[in-house]
Amino acid sequence: MASILVIDDDKYIRSTFEDLLLPAGHDVKTLASAEEALIYLQSEYADLILLDIKLPGMDGLEFLEQLQKLKCDIPVVVITGFANVDTSVQAMKLGAKDYIRKPFNLDEVTLIVDKIVEEQQIEDQLAYFQKQKDVIFGFGDIIGNSEPIKEVFRFIRQVASSPKTTVLIRGETGTGKELVARAIHYKSERGNKPFIEINCSAFQETLLEAELFGYEAGAFTNATHRKKGLLELAHHGSFFFDEIGDMAPGLQAKILKVLEKQTFRRVGGTKEIHIDTRIISASSRNIETCISEGTFREDLYYRLNVASITLPPLRDRKEDVILLAEHFLKSYNTEFKKNLKGITNKLKTKLLEHSWPGNVRELKNAIERAVLFENSDLLTCDNISLLDNLATPSNNHTVIQIPNDGLSLVDIEKSLIEQALIKTNRNQTRAAKLLNISRETLKYRMKKFNINH
Ligand SMILES: Nc1ncnc2c1ncn2[C@@H]1O[C@H](COP(=O)(O)OP(=O)(O)OP(=O)(O)O)[C@@H](O)[C@H]1O
Ligand SMILES: [Mg+2]
Repeated sequence: MASILVIDDDKYIRSTFEDLLLPAGHDVKTLASAEEALIYLQSEYADLILLDIKLPGMDGLEFLEQLQKLKCDIPVVVITGFANVDTSVQAMKLGAKDYIRKPFNLDEVTLIVDKIVEEQQIEDQLAYFQKQKDVIFGFGDIIGNSEPIKEVFRFIRQVASSPKTTVLIRGETGTGKELVARAIHYKSERGNKPFIEINCSAFQETLLEAELFGYEAGAFTNATHRKKGLLELAHHGSFFFDEIGDMAPGLQAKILKVLEKQTFRRVGGTKEIHIDTRIISASSRNIETCISEGTFREDLYYRLNVASITLPPLRDRKEDVILLAEHFLKSYNTEFKKNLKGITNKLKTKLLEHSWPGNVRELKNAIERAVLFENSDLLTCDNISLLDNLATPSNNHTVIQIPNDGLSLVDIEKSLIEQALIKTNRNQTRAAKLLNISRETLKYRMKKFNINH
């Protein structure tokens, strides 16, 4: 599945390539001169160019030089006369990936094309990984020893061993849904292929559609060249739809079709593209409620809900609280170059008494802050701020006590916004109401503090 541009002045060779490459599923464009090709490449894209060196007008070597200036990084295979070893060497110096000697053998051409197309796909995926690097981590990071979390481990092992099964992960915010999705992927035989995720609440419908399915050149304004969709990049890997409950209804219908047929079309495209990817989705919203409110399709829900688990909230597995706190203490010790030896008993009691509405994320953030500001050998209660305990209401207005060594107003504002979002299940209208500000003000501040939707 690649777009291949063939540049050769010989009509017979052009049609030979078409006859060979079209049935193999590639898009083939043939042109007779380098000049035409340069014009073509200003508006179109190719995954691979097969280039004859001897051309009337601008020759292949000159074309390679011009192509380098365009910086479009399209791999080129040059076609040279049998005796022309020098030219092939020169072409490689100008960035050609490989060469084919005339008269050529069709099997050899297929082999070279397949190899380069595959390399290209891997490079695309690597480039994507590079972008995602900060969010990609191995698994084994799921900490816990309680019965409910052991049940989660059993579930992960089970679904990891059936790599086609669609998985739905539910649970309150911060319970580790994303972590579990990654663990399922990395533990499965798909683990060395891409894990691609998208947050359904973070995109508008049309943008999300273009990201997911990719598009053909000219599909809409600004679509100057073809772009592969994320679903295509997840071929043989796993695709994670985070916050699926927030997916726009129009897209839900399209995703349902992908799940049913395992094929899709790029935006503006006509070709059906087959994909083999495991779909994992997660939701902190109650999807049944979304169905009864008419915002989520029931048929899609049944498709997604093949194997499902609800992650336990932290308050239901108190045994894990100290274990997790000590784990985060260790990792923030390293990150902040501290050497805290442990947690005081008083703080342990406080951590155990808390109800953790923000679950593991809240605990992690609390420990991060506390480690950062701790001045003694052990982690004490001095710098711990928990969602419930931050503000004490009194006489209808809220009083926040300033600790002796001061506080950061910005951090408090940010934390209050985060709490309001957590309390309202990230419903911005209700969160703004809780904070007695307008939705626009809330949005503005979320942007300012880089808070996710
Ligand atoms: N069992 C666990 N062990 C270690 N870290 C955990 C565990 N569960 C969650 N975390 C950490 O807590 C944070 C929140 O987890 P995650 O993002 O997976 O939650 P989530 O359920 O997807 O939340 P949300 O619904 O808000 O997106 C992450 O930093 C994650 O690494
Ligand atoms: Mg999440």
